[in-house]
Amino acid sequence: MSRHYQHDVLVIGSGAAGLTLALTLPAHLRIAILSKGDLANGSTYWAQGGVAAVLDDADTVESHVADTLNAGGGLCREDAVRFTVEHSREAIEWLIEQGVPFTREDKPDREEGSFEFHLTREGGHSHRRIIHAADATGAAIFNTLLEQTRKRANIELLEQRVAVDLITERKLGLPGQRCVGAYVLDRNSGEVDTHCARFVVLATGGAAKVYLYTSNPDGASGDGIAMAWRAGCRVGNLEFNQFHPTCLYHPQAKSFLITEALRGEGAHLKLPNGERFMERFDERAELAPRDIVARAIDHEMKRLGVDCVYLDISHKPAEFVKAHFPTVYERCLQYGIDITRQPIPVVPAAHYTCGGVLVDRHGRTDVPGLYAIGETSFTGLHGANRMASNSLLECFVYARSAVEDILEHLDQVATPQSLPAWDASQVTDSDEDVIIAHNWDELRHFMWDYVGIVRTNKRLQRAQHRVRLLLDEIDEFYSNYRVSRDLIELRNLALVAELMIESAMRRQESRGLHYTLDYPELLPEAHDTILVPPTFAG
Ligand code: FAD
Ligand code: SIN
Repeated sequence: MSRHYQHDVLVIGSGAAGLTLALTLPAHLRIAILSKGDLANGSTYWAQGGVAAVLDDADTVESHVADTLNAGGGLCREDAVRFTVEHSREAIEWLIEQGVPFTREDKPDREEGSFEFHLTREGGHSHRRIIHAADATGAAIFNTLLEQTRKRANIELLEQRVAVDLITERKLGLPGQRCVGAYVLDRNSGEVDTHCARFVVLATGGAAKVYLYTSNPDGASGDGIAMAWRAGCRVGNLEFNQFHPTCLYHPQAKSFLITEALRGEGAHLKLPNGERFMERFDERAELAPRDIVARAIDHEMKRLGVDCVYLDISHKPAEFVKAHFPTVYERCLQYGIDITRQPIPVVPAAHYTCGGVLVDRHGRTDVPGLYAIGETSFTGLHGANRMASNSLLECFVYARSAVEDILEHLDQVATPQSLPAWDASQVTDSDEDVIIAHNWDELRHFMWDYVGIVRTNKRLQRAQHRVRLLLDEIDEFYSNYRVSRDLIELRNLALVAELMIESAMRRQESRGLHYTLDYPELLPEAHDTILVPPTFAG
């Protein structure tokens, strides 16, 4: 039997964005947090480098803003950048209050009263401004926020629940446009439950799983973007898929990232013959923004016909390397690579979805009552290329800002009553799950080959043709068979892939992460790529 739930706030996603929002809401509200796997299954848990913020006395808001704008290739919304950076210090203070064990500065000559945490550096940043917990910052933040959440009786944590679609007044044929809840697959019972809520928050993370090689965990399938689109929300800048320059290249290492902080602390990128090459591409060398470094690596790999390049930090003292990068050290050692003595084989892999659901300063989407925060959203902060460690910062700042808006509107919104249950009367169990697995593979292969680091019109057309065939097949499958996590994710991923391809086709220039051989130049004016769904709610 399917169930019917009622919440004040339904938060879909248990990463940095979702947990922060839930913890910032007042304790008298009934809040549910959904996670489609276990609670730690999002990208947050895997974040390594840290959180960018203006914390050092020698650093300034202006400098962080300028670096972000510069990395963003002329496409950041300056007001969004300024808003985020101006709120960076208070976001970090809040995390410290929650108990996040950030790495402390161990300088014996530290002045009394000066900032006590260690700050590292990453690509594009002109100052040391990345606060971190060694090289496992995401796990430290996640564990702390989860522990705080568990202490709150008003927050219900629901694992293994996959949101299938949002429920809106429009879809129900009621007057109004509000989002009033979501249909959610309970993977334990196999039933699709109805969750009613006064406010619904998408905190579902990114869509990098659309690519064959990615640093992201399996669940990064763009569910929030797809659900918001189907509910009538505009999406923006989905052509800007960030490839992290350095993921471990090893047959047994699935998607293990080698943090950019290694380069921040002096690691060099080298060709197989030991030659450094980044100076040939940018005067900032290894600390150029990610789009430049990833493209340079791609270029060198293709030029030389090699499978990987190397990241070398072995010239630094072994104790320093082990103390700063214990996670990377241990993991590489498992694969027989001692990073204190040997270079690390690395390749670029899909890492971050810069575009997403269009939102305002408070994370409000086009559908009233529906918010999007964190990687699933498009706030205008990242422009054409996200600067390292600005992503977690965005999660905290916009989660807290969304709370302000929810509180301002709380009294005007009643809990929706008696929404119709999910109708599963027309579907049967699938005996063809192999089709789902096959389509997943096919999608991720052609997205990697045709919509990757270097694009052309022809490749994009090929990808568009294929994704449309897949979408037809998936639609048929979805209409006839009972939903499963794999089918829900495939349906969402294929839709998001189509939106990415469409966005890439519309951008007839090369800017930031979008590089095409057919339009290698930058147009004089920068424009966002905004796609409007047929059911636009605005
Ligand atoms: P996530 O943490 O990805 O959480 C998504 C949540 O949504 C999960 O709980 C998932 O179960 C849930 N969900 C998704 N779909 C559904 C659905 N249909 N139904 C129910 N639940 C659903 N950024 C930085 O700023 N600094 C770093 O050092 C850094 N390092 C990184 C290292 C790695 C390896 C990776 C992959 C990313 C890194 N990033 C970093 C990026 C950053 O970690 C992410 O952008 C950020 O954590 C996203 O947080 P989020 O809360 O938006 O989503
Ligand atoms: C890293 O540690 O290199 C990832 C940082 C980020 O994605 O912001």
